[in-house]
Amino acid sequence: MKRAKIGILTGGGDCPGLNATIRSVTKSADVEGIEVFGISQGFLGLYENQISRISLREVSGVLPQGGTILGSSRFNPFKRDEILEVCLDHYKKAGLDGLVVIGGDGTLGIANDLWQKHQLPVIGIPKTIDNDVYGTDRTIGFYTAVQTCVDAIDKLHTTAESHNFIMVVELMGRHCGFLAAYAGMAGGADFILIPEVEVTVNQMVGSLKERHGRGKNFSIVVVAEDAKLYDDKGQEVVSTPTYKDEYGKIKLGGVGQLVADVIKNELGYETRYTNLGHVQRGGSPVAIDRLLATSFGCAAIELVQKNVWGALLAYEKGGVVAKHISVVRDGKKTLPVGYYKMAQRFFR
Ligand code: F6P
Repeated sequence: MKRAKIGILTGGGDCPGLNATIRSVTKSADVEGIEVFGISQGFLGLYENQISRISLREVSGVLPQGGTILGSSRFNPFKRDEILEVCLDHYKKAGLDGLVVIGGDGTLGIANDLWQKHQLPVIGIPKTIDNDVYGTDRTIGFYTAVQTCVDAIDKLHTTAESHNFIMVVELMGRHCGFLAAYAGMAGGADFILIPEVEVTVNQMVGSLKERHGRGKNFSIVVVAEDAKLYDDKGQEVVSTPTYKDEYGKIKLGGVGQLVADVIKNELGYETRYTNLGHVQRGGSPVAIDRLLATSFGCAAIELVQKNVWGALLAYEKGGVVAKHISVVRDGKKTLPVGYYKMAQRFFR
């Protein structure tokens, strides 16, 4: 009987746990006699025909490594018809039976379109430090990034206290507040701004002033990269400076400095701004991300064996489930407001 052959790629921004996923897929496939082919740099490797066999040797020792041994890119095969044709042609010529696509909402959206519009068999595995993939409670890499941010906030705390600074810490997360809310709460932030909740300048400075009135001489303010601040009439007064990259994707970053300026101007306190930037995407995956990556990888091979395609593996109610991959397009994931309300109890 012909051995099944699958391709595997990692697309979009990297995160800790990608290598653990590639390892899990490769090792599980090996047990079942399925051949795995790595596609370099996300969908760019399909376009450039960078497809090569990966076996146990390539995945040996990668479990604790950050980044991705396959490389990644934000290349979109749907950008032009000719590009898509080349990608589909290379896929066909490689003799693959299907693709395991490890990505965030952008990459998984592409996988959905390949399946729905071109019948290219795919299985999607959600990863991103932003935890913003619709249809899954958790994504690979999220908890490692939370831990990285908490470690940084802990370090900023001591300096804030020594110098009576207001430390404004900007975290990633795109249009979702998961990373900022989770890291802020676990790091003991005194105020948190996220995109999902409208906060006015007066609410924020009022809360900080009250805290300082009670004898606290420092504060930690965590700001999600797409957070905004409003005036009392609901008009936006501070929002992320944005520009678009060559793929039309909005680049975020810099709002923390604006928030720090507002605090300085309104209260006169010494403020300092730190943008953790891409540090948040690095490092060795924490145990919970390694376990999620491993479970998703095993589940992907189970689907391949059952010849089930067009699926998204999701984490729900404490376990891994398979959903139709179109679920990633069904809505926008947002932090439940109740979680922010809980965090607010500690803004004092
Ligand atoms: O999606 C992951 C992420 O790190 C976001 O949090 C951030 O907005 C974006 O990617 C940064 O993208 P790039 O690595 O292209 O600068």
